[in-house]
Amino acid sequence: MLGRQERTFKLSIEKLVYGGKGLGRYNGRAVFVPMVAPNDVVIVEETARKSGYSEAKVVKLLNKSEFRTRPLCPYFGKCGGCDWQHVKYEHQVRFKREIVEENLQKIGKIRKPNIDEVVPSPSPWYYRNRAQLKVKSGRVGFFAKGTHNVIDIDRCYLLKKEIHDVMPKLKKLLKFLPTEPSDFHIYCSSKSEVLLKIVYPGKFKKVEISLENVREILELNVVGFGIYKSGSDGYPERIKFFGRDFTYENVGKFKFRVSADSFFQVNEFQVENLIDRVSRAAMEYQYMLAGDLYCGVGTFTIPVGRYVHRAFGVEANFSAISDALYNKDINGLRNVTFYCKPTEEALDILREYSPDFIVLDPPRSGLTQKVLKEIANLPRLKKIVYVSCNPSTLARDVALFHQFGINMEKAKVIDMFPQTYHVETIAYLRKVR
Ligand SMILES: C[S@@+](CC[C@H](N)C(=O)[O-])C[C@H]1O[C@@H](n2cnc3c(N)ncnc32)[C@H](O)[C@@H]1O
Repeated sequence: MLGRQERTFKLSIEKLVYGGKGLGRYNGRAVFVPMVAPNDVVIVEETARKSGYSEAKVVKLLNKSEFRTRPLCPYFGKCGGCDWQHVKYEHQVRFKREIVEENLQKIGKIRKPNIDEVVPSPSPWYYRNRAQLKVKSGRVGFFAKGTHNVIDIDRCYLLKKEIHDVMPKLKKLLKFLPTEPSDFHIYCSSKSEVLLKIVYPGKFKKVEISLENVREILELNVVGFGIYKSGSDGYPERIKFFGRDFTYENVGKFKFRVSADSFFQVNEFQVENLIDRVSRAAMEYQYMLAGDLYCGVGTFTIPVGRYVHRAFGVEANFSAISDALYNKDINGLRNVTFYCKPTEEALDILREYSPDFIVLDPPRSGLTQKVLKEIANLPRLKKIVYVSCNPSTLARDVALFHQFGINMEKAKVIDMFPQTYHVETIAYLRKVR
């Protein structure tokens, strides 16, 4: 056991790392500390000792970093939603770029990765179109940092203006629900149409409230709400839906139907930039056939489809693929096809099409080795645009692609998640042999 004195020491913070914490070194040992900024000098108390590194918390701030700013939100530090509100926004994006660079160097094995300037979010606040709010004993909010305790909040500055102060109204709604749910999932589209999911972890009594009542209580244009039970895979399972279970997103010249159970990019101000940076890559050459794996509602398949001869999308979620099929029609595309399958089970489709242009936007876990190998061995493949929300798995996959003669030419960070450590990267890869 360490004595209290040995566990408390002075630390200079070198940098921020993926996960949001700051890194300092004490006697050569890596120490990770939350809620700090590079160049902070702090007294910390060690909270955990692991093999090769320690975790610690700040006891006293001795020297304040020039990168610090005053957090806007009164819940910052307690609420688990944000990590970096205490860091000036222009530096947040710089640190994200450095994190991507380091991952591409260390894991991706690229000595000097070519990374463009970050595309910052046009607004670092009020950008999120959806939230998964937690409910416990009448409290509505988010989990407190590192715990499953729900902290009661009355607003969130990351949420778009229409829903940033919806929590007190959701509390009012609780009074009309005979059983307390565990979650409210709220989504507000670019047309200010709101979809609400009321999620129950176990048994619950029948919900008798009408859509009209929900609309009145929330004072929002709720077009539909659903009753869900927590699914074993983390995705809630629908029991019943009242009203319309979809809305529309207008993004530049494209329109997307997005259903309550489909994924759509969360930063309302950045979706167009993301689509633009992905589809621009398809314009640079006369590609014949584009494949979009993990395609969601066709967010990239449809824009890319305008520049290639034919395109296809693969997606595991039935709701998303139904939207995608609808979206190709409302956007007037006849050369696009969609398949509802997990990518791992769509390898024969991939082989048959033999695309020369591929878009990838997998979940955080990245690609499985089998999928990656199949893509890498496509005989006509020329270009891959890999969109990733996890720089470590992106870097791992970039290194694996390199073994197949596919090199990363450039990467670009589009900041979809201001005030948090989360980072969205587009990596552009080309097959060289
Ligand atoms: C990060 S989202 C990207 C969606 C889309 N590209 C977009 O930008 O809206 C990842 C998508 O992959 C889907 N997905 C997850 N696992 C999958 C799998 N094994 N095969 C195919 N799709 C999968 C999810 O349902 C989700 O729609």
